[in-house]
Amino acid sequence: MPDDYVTATFMPSGAKTEALMGANLIKAALEAGIEVDAVCGGKGACGKCRAKIIKGAVSETTASEAEHLTTEELKNGYVLLCQRKALGDVVIETQPERARLDNHAPAKGKLMDAALEVAPPVAKTYHQLARPAINDQVADLDRVLSRLPGEKRADVKLVTRLPALLREAGYCVTSVVLEDELLSLEKGNTVSEMYGIAFDVGTTSVAGYLADLAGGKVLASLASANRQRAHGADVVSRITYTMEDDNGLAELQRLIAQTIDEIVSGLLSRSGVPAERVYTLTFIGNTVMSHLLLGVSPVGVASAPFVPAFSRSLQGTAADLGLKSLPAYTRFVLLPNVAGYVGSDTVGVILATRIYDLPGTWLAVDIGTNGEIVLASGGRLLTCSTAAGPAFEGASISQGMRAEPGAIYQVRMENDVELAVIGGTKPVGICGSGLIDAVSEIARIGLVKSSGRIKDPRDLPPGFPASLMRRIKQDGNSYKFVLAEGEREVAITQSDINKLQLGKGAVRAGIEILLNELNLQPSDLDGILLAGAFGSNLRPASLKGIGMLPEVSLDRVKSVGNAAGTGAILALLSKRQLETVLALPERIEHVELSLHGGFQRAFARGLSFKVENHVKQ
Ligand code: FES
Repeated sequence: MPDDYVTATFMPSGAKTEALMGANLIKAALEAGIEVDAVCGGKGACGKCRAKIIKGAVSETTASEAEHLTTEELKNGYVLLCQRKALGDVVIETQPERARLDNHAPAKGKLMDAALEVAPPVAKTYHQLARPAINDQVADLDRVLSRLPGEKRADVKLVTRLPALLREAGYCVTSVVLEDELLSLEKGNTVSEMYGIAFDVGTTSVAGYLADLAGGKVLASLASANRQRAHGADVVSRITYTMEDDNGLAELQRLIAQTIDEIVSGLLSRSGVPAERVYTLTFIGNTVMSHLLLGVSPVGVASAPFVPAFSRSLQGTAADLGLKSLPAYTRFVLLPNVAGYVGSDTVGVILATRIYDLPGTWLAVDIGTNGEIVLASGGRLLTCSTAAGPAFEGASISQGMRAEPGAIYQVRMENDVELAVIGGTKPVGICGSGLIDAVSEIARIGLVKSSGRIKDPRDLPPGFPASLMRRIKQDGNSYKFVLAEGEREVAITQSDINKLQLGKGAVRAGIEILLNELNLQPSDLDGILLAGAFGSNLRPASLKGIGMLPEVSLDRVKSVGNAAGTGAILALLSKRQLETVLALPERIEHVELSLHGGFQRAFARGLSFKVENHVKQ
């Protein structure tokens, strides 16, 4: 190895990479295939890329490390990977890689009823062809095509396989046809083996659903963290990366293809379905993810007038996406987007919930790093998108973490704090649902002012439970509320509350503006549908408690699971559903909040908390 190269080894996996002397450690980690939560995209602002130097020389401590790590941690070798450079061979301990693939359930029950109509665009037919003879010299390709209805074409790659395939199969073959193309020809009768995969490509995670196209059943579903997270938690960081790094766009496309390949491999190995029997894919995602999936620059979406490179549905092959886990002939359909920040995931929610057919006035809210809102009333369908920010998913929170073992996911407060922790372990951080619960409870017991400011304990009313009072600790110029005490303290800081406020204020403002557009009041709502793998796991009472949802009775709030993913499955299983989803954007009226005169006022109103004090005195 030349002198100007160093080896970076990452423990506990032992993954290694060779990097140029002076290479940034976060880049080296990515090269070695280590997943890093680079929420701020490597800018030193989030403190999430922490790791420990076990051996070797690295560059000096930076100011942002001093801000995010304690003196003790720095002394013990902890660093922020994005802040350090390798100055020699180095061994680094990172967080143990969590299992990349999680079992993942799409929406169940009523949303999937439409899937009973199974009529995919792919057709398979078994043929017992006549063998060639001196008086039957029809060419191999014509021999096959003549048995198919209408005019069909075949790719040259298929034709190259044809002579051997027909003869080995004794002229007994199954044709696979999609629209006017003979996609594949298989030996023997394989008519019952017909599969497709629907994908929901999220900024944070990607979910895949393997479906039996003949039987109309989802056989397996898996979710995985989007590997693009290494370049920031939200779409803005990803767009910035494509602008600042010449190779950024290609790298993000490669990472999403890698994530999809991992999901496909997991689905196939769990179900025993061979890759060559997967013929179609459907993709939904937000507009930026749709662009990055195809390797198309999303830069136009970054600033006003927020013009995407495309909105309509696009089609292509697995090879066009650089997928290695599927045959090149597998076809994909990327469902249509509506606007720069209202993507096909929202269109999927609309299809799956059939919100346009529900009697009365309905709201659907899909909460993630972006909050997409749909309002259906009187035959009209309005949508908008709000920058909810990564706080809802725990990403930009001081002790925020993914929903994995050690994460506080439920919080209750009466005379003291009651916590539920994933895996039943000691708490090490808090995930999005825990944060929303905690802040809702903090507001409910009157620990914050309506501005969101944590109260000085001296301002609390007499009789306020001492067990809660002692959890309020000075934190710089403000206070924090300690949820878990001990060696690993987990607390909600003033900054955490402020970040959540920005997200919930934006969603609440979006809801208010859509209602105003149709001269409606919250009391006119017949129901609210909470969509999204994340959103539907949140307690409606807590969402109402932080003031994100308007004042409606809780029995009118329903969780519908990952409705966007369900929309992608419906479009995969049924040609008619696919046609419906392709036509939906024409019916949808998009309301651009950034240009809306009432947004700032609605946002300011949405920031405040309704403060009560229900603690037993
Ligand atoms: S501080 Fe390193 S990625 Fe955010």
